[in-house]
Amino acid sequence: MMKPENGHRAHGFSSVHFLDSDEIIRELDLRGDEVFMDAGCGDGHNAIKILEDYNHKGLVYAVDVYDASIEDMQTYKDENDVENLINIEADITDGIPGVDDESVDVILMVNVFHGFKASRKLDEAVKELERIVKKDGKIAIMDYKAWDVPKGPPTKYRSSPQDLEMLFNKYGLNKIYLNEDIGEDIPEGKSHFLIMFGKE
Ligand SMILES: C[S@@+](CC[C@H](N)C(=O)[O-])C[C@H]1O[C@@H](n2cnc3c(N)ncnc32)[C@H](O)[C@@H]1O
Repeated sequence: MMKPENGHRAHGFSSVHFLDSDEIIRELDLRGDEVFMDAGCGDGHNAIKILEDYNHKGLVYAVDVYDASIEDMQTYKDENDVENLINIEADITDGIPGVDDESVDVILMVNVFHGFKASRKLDEAVKELERIVKKDGKIAIMDYKAWDVPKGPPTKYRSSPQDLEMLFNKYGLNKIYLNEDIGEDIPEGKSHFLIMFGKE
């Protein structure tokens, strides 16, 4: 178990230590009134930043399968009286309860997607994201490049943007944006890519 900066419990590494949240959030081009979801939120630092620093007035969902992370997000919500934050403990690949079909404008997943490859649940994950995203919404996936480098998940669990595009296309989701120059500076270049998919 990791203890990120905000003291919340997280299963796996919080990206707060090595990725620039503002760089990621700026990519989303939020107006401030969208229904937003931090899927696989971990310590929830991206959701919290959107609420606090970006003054988000729309609904914010924080979803994670790790019960302690969601408990800590609930404590944050209660202590700070954050009415527009909804925390859900769920395995995304089993479906996210309480979230209606086509009800989310923007879904963000930072360093989560490779886990679906590891658990061989890629299709289940994409089906659920397809179910909840609005017709004009977007799914933003940021993950480690499929390079054989020491930092990050094992190479066999990484996907390239092209791999993800093929997978998402199967479910009627099309690439609307790709940034391959994002993340941490490592000797080989930038560590991550950020790809977005939509239905239109
Ligand atoms: C490496 S952490 C990244 C956390 C956060 N997004 C960040 O950038 O700091 C991966 C997170 O995904 C969550 N996760 C993994 N598989 C999941 C699943 N099937 N459903 C929901 N959450 C999942 C883990 O519990 C963990 O909090």
